[in-house]
Amino acid sequence: MKDLFAKIYKDKGPLGKWAEQAEGYFVFPKLEGQISNRMKFQGKDVITWSINDYLGLANHPEVRKVDAEAAAEYGSAYPMGARMMSGHTEMHEKLQNELAEFVSKEAAYLLNFGYQGIMSTIDALVAKDDIIVYDVDSHACIIDGVRLHMGKRFTYKHNDIESLEKNLERATKMAETTGGGILVISEGVFGMRGEQGRLKEIVALKQKFNFRFLVDDAHGFGTLGATGAGAGEEQGIQDDIDVYFATFAKSLASTGAFIAGDKEIMDYLKYNLRSQMFAKSLQMTLTVGALKRLDMLRTMPELKQNLWKIVDALQSGLKERGFDIGSTTSCVTPVYLNGSIPEAMALVRDLRENYGIFCSIVVYPVIPKGLILLRMIPTATHTIQDVTETLDAFDAIRTRLENGTYKRMSAALIKAMGE
Ligand SMILES: Cc1ncc(COP(=O)(O)O)c(C=O)c1O
Repeated sequence: MKDLFAKIYKDKGPLGKWAEQAEGYFVFPKLEGQISNRMKFQGKDVITWSINDYLGLANHPEVRKVDAEAAAEYGSAYPMGARMMSGHTEMHEKLQNELAEFVSKEAAYLLNFGYQGIMSTIDALVAKDDIIVYDVDSHACIIDGVRLHMGKRFTYKHNDIESLEKNLERATKMAETTGGGILVISEGVFGMRGEQGRLKEIVALKQKFNFRFLVDDAHGFGTLGATGAGAGEEQGIQDDIDVYFATFAKSLASTGAFIAGDKEIMDYLKYNLRSQMFAKSLQMTLTVGALKRLDMLRTMPELKQNLWKIVDALQSGLKERGFDIGSTTSCVTPVYLNGSIPEAMALVRDLRENYGIFCSIVVYPVIPKGLILLRMIPTATHTIQDVTETLDAFDAIRTRLENGTYKRMSAALIKAMGE
């Protein structure tokens, strides 16, 4: 019989196999200094384009003050226990009510982490005879939630309404035999490539098919829509989203998340979300901190305006200089280049060391082989000067990528990796 660990000793996994070359630099890098547009990496000043602090709240003095006061008053333990047992407070209820009102839903329920929270939401919404239809490019938390489902599931091609319709036809036929219902899941904004989910067209299919719609709006909440209520508001279909999900980990620059929808559904979920029923409640500092952040989101439209000023400058600048930024319709700004993984490593090293630009690099297997994706997250704390410096640096690295500089620099690595 094999040792359970034998496979681990042999194969570190698609990303783990790069650990030796990548760890500490490309993955698990240590950014230092206060969270902002400029931080330090390995002692050097860098412009940071990889932090989801869209509205610049992470280090806002008013937020820091409220966080510090809440920590002084409650410590980091309070309240102890799961919500259902001993971890419920007035503040949790207040935050839920305010979130529900903000996203125009009857009720909301807090989640101590988005990832586990949405997994449990999917798990609790479907029974064995139900069918899930979801976008093939969904975030890992959606995929893991679907994995918990004991019944049938179908994926549809990424943001492809024709494919969704075909799969809804299959799912409808199947539901007629199982006697169950259908749950469709999309993201409000796909966080890797920045495209908004085609929510408006998806909900239009409710005329033809009977399904309920769950939207993960992690990147849309706070950044899209007239009031910042997200992709549903932006596309004018918030009412047709049956269960709305967003995390505090991006625009609200914190930890925690929530779901919102009809009161009866939220009441059901609060008694059935296993990752919340059997886990410690969202701590008070985070709850009080989220109330403050939500208040700022509601009352300081200039935060979103500043964000979009930077998004527009960055995206139009990249396009004008001939960069391929795909089909983003959100703040998430992907820059696609052609090259191997070792070339991508040399390029990012050059960007960081010689141009002081820190952005995330995404390669195969997350995107197709031969493509390099530099994923940029503009925030309200960036300046036009940051954008200009970055665009100039991108021009320079593109030239070096195209003239083979990075191929030569990474030749040894290319050979070693058989790229
Ligand atoms: C699309 C999406 N959904 C869910 C999550 C998980 O949220 P959390 O960080 O609160 O666990 C993330 C990452 O933060 C995300 O990008």
